[in-house]
Amino acid sequence: MNHRRFILASGNKGKLREFREILEPMGIEIVSQAEAGFDMDVEETGDTFEENAWLKASAICAAAGLPAVADDSGLCVDALGGAPGVYSARFGGGKSWTDEQKYMYLLEKLVGVRDRGAKFVSCICCVFPGGDVLRARGECPGHILEAPVGSGGFGYDPVFRPDGYEGSFASLGEDVKNRISHRARALAAFSKELEKYADR
Ligand code: IMP
Repeated sequence: MNHRRFILASGNKGKLREFREILEPMGIEIVSQAEAGFDMDVEETGDTFEENAWLKASAICAAAGLPAVADDSGLCVDALGGAPGVYSARFGGGKSWTDEQKYMYLLEKLVGVRDRGAKFVSCICCVFPGGDVLRARGECPGHILEAPVGSGGFGYDPVFRPDGYEGSFASLGEDVKNRISHRARALAAFSKELEKYADR
């Protein structure tokens, strides 16, 4: 079986771009679920990033009969008790809201709040047709800005400043984001798991 070609179980174009930018230099090919002909919206009914990543990867793997990989990710804000967390894509008005509406809603909730600590989390799950599962997790600590900065990236990037940097994920550029982000860390761990798996 080819262990270096996966269907990405996601309809999120930002995630797809980052998966390719990060994994292709490692020789890992990513096919989008739309390109593979399995463009389904898997319901994320889990309470954890790990569960939701498994739900998405296993549904696409079962439908396609090919190895699938998924990322379930989100922003956990300290002052909100870890919210929006697994509900990041559905925060505020839900999936019909634009990214801008969601991050402005977050900023409204944090008006006057001094503790602006937060972290992004990414959980990767890869499912093979035989039932084997590989998992990896990455986190990126930082702070929520007072106002949006920059136009790159996706989701909450304009309002998140990673620790050790001056700008937001949206202003630092994809090269920086793809080196230090939660997704970059999770995918680096995933590529190591994949090497061990291929050597078994
Ligand atoms: P899900 O993994 O499909 O549940 O969606 C995760 C949601 O978390 C996205 O829709 C974004 O709102 C947010 N998110 C995850 N990763 C990032 C990121 O790298 N930058 C900005 N927002 C992100």
